[in-house]
Amino acid sequence: MSGSRPALATTLGAIVGADHVLTATAACAAYLVDERGLYDGRALAVVRPADCAETAAVVTACAAAGVGMVAQGGNTGYCGGATPGAGGGDEVVISLERLDRVRDLDRAGATITVEAGVTLAAVQAAAEAAGLLFPLAMGSQASCRIGGNLSTNAGGLAVLRYGMARDLTLGLEVVLPDGRVLDLLRALRKDNTGYDLKQLFIGAEGTLGIITAATLKLYPRPTQQLTLLATVGSPARALDLLGTLRAAVGDAVTSFEYLATDALARLEEAFPDALWPRPRAPCVLAECSGFGDDDTPLLTAVSAALDDLGLADVDLARSEQQRRTLWRMREQVPAAERHLGGSVKHDVTLPLAGLPEFLDHARDAVLARWPGSRLSVYGHFGDGNVHFNVLAPADHDPAAFRREHAAAITALVHDLAEAARGSFSAEHGIGQLKRHDLEHYRRGTEIELMRTLKRALDPRGLMNPGKLC
Ligand code: MLT
Ligand code: ZN
Repeated sequence: MSGSRPALATTLGAIVGADHVLTATAACAAYLVDERGLYDGRALAVVRPADCAETAAVVTACAAAGVGMVAQGGNTGYCGGATPGAGGGDEVVISLERLDRVRDLDRAGATITVEAGVTLAAVQAAAEAAGLLFPLAMGSQASCRIGGNLSTNAGGLAVLRYGMARDLTLGLEVVLPDGRVLDLLRALRKDNTGYDLKQLFIGAEGTLGIITAATLKLYPRPTQQLTLLATVGSPARALDLLGTLRAAVGDAVTSFEYLATDALARLEEAFPDALWPRPRAPCVLAECSGFGDDDTPLLTAVSAALDDLGLADVDLARSEQQRRTLWRMREQVPAAERHLGGSVKHDVTLPLAGLPEFLDHARDAVLARWPGSRLSVYGHFGDGNVHFNVLAPADHDPAAFRREHAAAITALVHDLAEAARGSFSAEHGIGQLKRHDLEHYRRGTEIELMRTLKRALDPRGLMNPGKLC
């Protein structure tokens, strides 16, 4: 350990309290490994400030010492964006978990101001307690934190209706790389005052500064929810259903999730005794939301849409418990993959019309080159985002298969998505995992401009080194 490092730990302890500067191996362990176990980082210390002022002081001290800083929320990301590098162990992890206050909720304005460490589930609960809805939703919501959701511009299950984290944000509070606090916490729906600076920090994965608080949009809370699982038989029919449903009920379609036959097969292999429906052909889990006491008009319109398409194999949730069962089935697909030894994951997005052809091409190409590999294809079809995941053949060691083939499989899937004017990353971000893809697919003016912004805000490259661009 160099002479300045113990001095930095002492300085940080004076800011946040010695108890909140973790250096012991066991205490730091959970902060140094990512959710998927892909990255095993090293750090000088893990620091847990209590508020924005302490975060700013920590950043100032690290900047003065020339030490890299890795902001971390719930550490649930899929791309290693919140894990320190594996090199010299000379970065400091700044955990935002103690910034966990709801600062304000404005019912009339339908906004909530929360600190970065509030879990997504707690933001949803605070909105619900006020009779409102915060619509960002995903499987990890009990443990992911809103600062991480914003830093990765998280998507999830209701993007079709409400947009991504970026679309739900009105204001931000950010600690800049030199420790200055940028207060953009305005709860304004209209504010035409030049560059929209807050958008720079959303999706930036902590490389331009650290988000410490946000003002978010809330929505009226629907009083009706119509959830159904329809066997559609093919991706093209799924698109027909989406168009017909939206023509019938418009933005009432809040979620539109697709499960291909192979994802259903993975669920069956992993959870043979689960008590959810067992469709044998591609299906769609759709949810429509409505307002008022009488759900007859919504039900009638949705039933007519299903009839129009001749879709008869439909499970309609008749109770909250049935609704939860349908959602559980969808949300357990990633768990099924883990249960079967893990997968080579993808998070691609395409213009909707290109999805059926992409899925056909990608499936044919992967199975031709890796015969026997098992697919798990599912995702947020309504917004063009599919998870095209590939598992080892049943008689192969999953970890060895991934080690040997992951890079080639990913190149194939990403090439096909990009060639169809899609994107290799829809909602999981870049982190460490997709850095080379960013460099490869966004070469030229686009990445140059990103690097120009990075240099302008963080000329010494101290914020989340080795991530993004
Ligand atoms: C999902 O949609 O379930 C996640 O984004 C993908 C995953 O957990 O693998
Ligand atoms: Zn997803």
